[in-house]
Amino acid sequence: MFIENIEISGFRNLKKKNVFSFTNSKNIIYGPNGSGKTTILEAIYILGFGRSFLNVKKEELLNNESDEFFINSTVNRNQLKFKISASLNKSFSLFLDGEKTGIPGIGRNFFPLFFSSSDYVSLISSRSSLRKLFDRFIFGTENIYSKELIEYKKVIRNKTYLLKHNPDYAHLKGWNKLLAEYILKITRKRFDFIRKINDHVQDKHHSGIEIRYTPSSSDFYYSDNFKLDKVLSVLDGILEKEILYKSPIVGTHLDKYEIFMDNRPLRLYSSGEKKLNLIFIYLAYIDMFLSERGEYPVFLVDDYDIAMDEENTEVLMSNYPAMQIIATSVRNNKNFDSTIKLKH
Ligand SMILES: Nc1ncnc2c1ncn2[C@@H]1O[C@H](COP(=O)(O)OP(=O)(O)O)[C@@H](O)[C@H]1O
Ligand SMILES: [Mg+2]
Repeated sequence: MFIENIEISGFRNLKKKNVFSFTNSKNIIYGPNGSGKTTILEAIYILGFGRSFLNVKKEELLNNESDEFFINSTVNRNQLKFKISASLNKSFSLFLDGEKTGIPGIGRNFFPLFFSSSDYVSLISSRSSLRKLFDRFIFGTENIYSKELIEYKKVIRNKTYLLKHNPDYAHLKGWNKLLAEYILKITRKRFDFIRKINDHVQDKHHSGIEIRYTPSSSDFYYSDNFKLDKVLSVLDGILEKEILYKSPIVGTHLDKYEIFMDNRPLRLYSSGEKKLNLIFIYLAYIDMFLSERGEYPVFLVDDYDIAMDEENTEVLMSNYPAMQIIATSVRNNKNFDSTIKLKH
C-alpha cells in the first residue's frame, strides 16, 4: 500500500489548501523548523487512526484562523485506488470512498506506521504508552482488534461506574460475564502478537531483545486452562475487593509490557541503545506485517536524521525496497528518491 497524495486545509499551519504528492518509494519532506514537516505526517496518521500521535485535542489541530479542517488522500493498494478523508467541522469524521467509516474500515486499506525520534525515551518506560503502541501494532495485523478494544472500554467504564455509585453484586456479575469474554479475546491476541514479534526480532535483528507481556492477573496465562470460566472465576473472586477499592483491579487496561535486552529492562540502557533497539522492534513489526498481510505499511519517520544513523539507513533502504517511506528532516538526504521542500 502507498499514499499517492494528500490535500490538507485548515489544519495547523496549513490554512489554505495544500497538496503534496508522494511516490511509492522513499520520500523526504525537508525544510526549516516550523515549516510544517511534522504536520504533514500528523495528517497522514490521522487518516489511519482518527487521532494524532501527539496528545492533543482535535480542536487544537484546527488552524488558528479556521473553523474546520479537511484532509483528503488517495491511497493505492494493489493497483486499486481508495479515497480516504478526515474532517473536523462540527464533529470529526473519517471517510472511505466518500462513505463515513470507522477505524477498522480504514485499517484494512491503509496503515501508517509512525516512528518518532523525539519521545522514545518516555515511550519505553511508560506502561500506558507501550500498551498503546502495541495495541496499534496488533490492530495493523488484525483490524477487528480495535473493535474489541472499544467494546472492552465501554464495559469497563460501566463496571467502574457501578463500583463507584451502585455496587450491586448481581449487576456487577452480569458485567463480569461480558468483561471475561473481551479479556479472553484481547489477552489471547496480545500473547499471540508478542510471540510473533519476538520471533521476528530475534530471528533477524537482535537475538537478545525480548518483549515480555504480563496480564493484570497471573491467572491469565496463555495455556490450555486459560478459558472463559477461568477468567470469570478470577473476576468474580475479586469482586469484593473491587467494591472496597471502588475500581476494577483486573483487566486488559492494566496489562503490562516491558522490553528487555539481554534480560535487563531496556529502560535502564542508554538513550542511544533505547532508540536502536526500538527501531529493531519496529523493523520486526514491519517483517511481521508483511508476513501476515503480504504487503507493507506506510512507514512515517519524523526527524529522520535524528532517528536513523548510517547503519540503520542501510538496513532500511536495502531490506525494504518495496515499502513506501515518508520521512522528514531539516535537510535533504541522498538516500531518498523523492523530495518535498518546505519553506517558512
Ligand atoms: N493550530 C495551529 N494553527 C496554526 N499554526 C500552528 C498550529 N499548530 C501548530 N502550528 C504551527 O505550525 C508550524 C509547523 O509545525 P511543525 O509541523 O511541527 O513544524 P516542523 O515539523 O517543520 O518543525 C509551527 O510553526 C507551529 O507553531
Ligand atoms: Mg517537526
